[in-house]
Amino acid sequence: MRVLGIETSCDETGIAIVDSEKGLLAHELYSQVALHAEYGGVVPELASRDHIQKILPMIERVIEKAGLRTEDIDGVAYTSGPGLVGALLVGATLGRSLAYAWNVPAIGVHHMEGHLLAPFLEERQPEFPFLALLVSGGHTMLIDVEAFGKYRVLGESVDDAAGEAFDKTAKILGLSYPGGPALAKLALTGDRKRFKFPRPMTDRPGLDFSFSGLKTFALNTLQENPDAKADIAAAFEDAVVNTLRIKCERALKEGMYRQLVVSGGVSANLYLRELFDKMGAEHGVDVFYPRQEFCTDNGAMIAFAGCQRLLRGEHVGLEIEVKARWSLDSLSSRFSSDV
Ligand code: KG4
Ligand code: ZN
Repeated sequence: MRVLGIETSCDETGIAIVDSEKGLLAHELYSQVALHAEYGGVVPELASRDHIQKILPMIERVIEKAGLRTEDIDGVAYTSGPGLVGALLVGATLGRSLAYAWNVPAIGVHHMEGHLLAPFLEERQPEFPFLALLVSGGHTMLIDVEAFGKYRVLGESVDDAAGEAFDKTAKILGLSYPGGPALAKLALTGDRKRFKFPRPMTDRPGLDFSFSGLKTFALNTLQENPDAKADIAAAFEDAVVNTLRIKCERALKEGMYRQLVVSGGVSANLYLRELFDKMGAEHGVDVFYPRQEFCTDNGAMIAFAGCQRLLRGEHVGLEIEVKARWSLDSLSSRFSSDV
């Protein structure tokens, strides 16, 4: 089965074709970073308009790159939430309409399920069951993954997501949007030990996270030490990554998992990968990440997740539905009758 995947939940237009036998056939990604940079963050209306301008030529190119014709596409998958409603509507409307025109099924994919399954696009793949840590700009979640589509959220952020904390702290340090990669780069030149940032909620039981206090800590430290930006970046990164690691270790022990998936934008962070690989080796746990370019938003993960659902006979009706908020837990009941 060959599935066209469309991702437009935020500021990246991602298009891809996945073949259920051969894997990823072709993909293209257009980032709107330059468009939003002067505003210091994503402007939803501009994002929607830009998706509209880029999406159709991208779909045409990806079909051509895959060496296919439109008749060869067996299904269309699009992100139907969570995300910016206007941006989601662009991909959902076009995706649903193309499926109708091509007379093939369509499927609305949960963006975070896309992130969660992104490591399956690689040669070395995890096996169910496993623990997943999703760390993106909008979410931080620890998830028990029993099987495909069987997800149980074990813990999540009660305030800022990990990526959001990176972006907000980067702004405080005067770095340009999107802040995560810029802060990570600056941290490379800093001293991780000069300042000791708190590791929120690690001193009490449970698997929830709280990252909003770290940006205030960064602001106060900067006011007292205006020339210490690199050291602050390094101490902040150290605090976020170690907090994630401590909670992950706790969840791994509690669930006796042998495998861990780390995915979402922040999983591109090299310091995180260094610490998590070390932790995995210490505990005899195999750690899986997507390749760098599939850590952040992309069409390939949506095509893959959509393909898995279509293979199990799931598809949407003719209505076009998007959701700004959508819990991952609710997916477990979605096709329980098919499994
Ligand atoms: O998964 P993603 O593309 O979008 C959402 O679904 O939210 O994640 C984007 C987030 C941003 O907050 C960005 O700053 C962060 O991932 N990010 C990073 C790195 N690369 C991207 N954070 C830390 N280090 C990085 N290398
Ligand atoms: Zn994302």
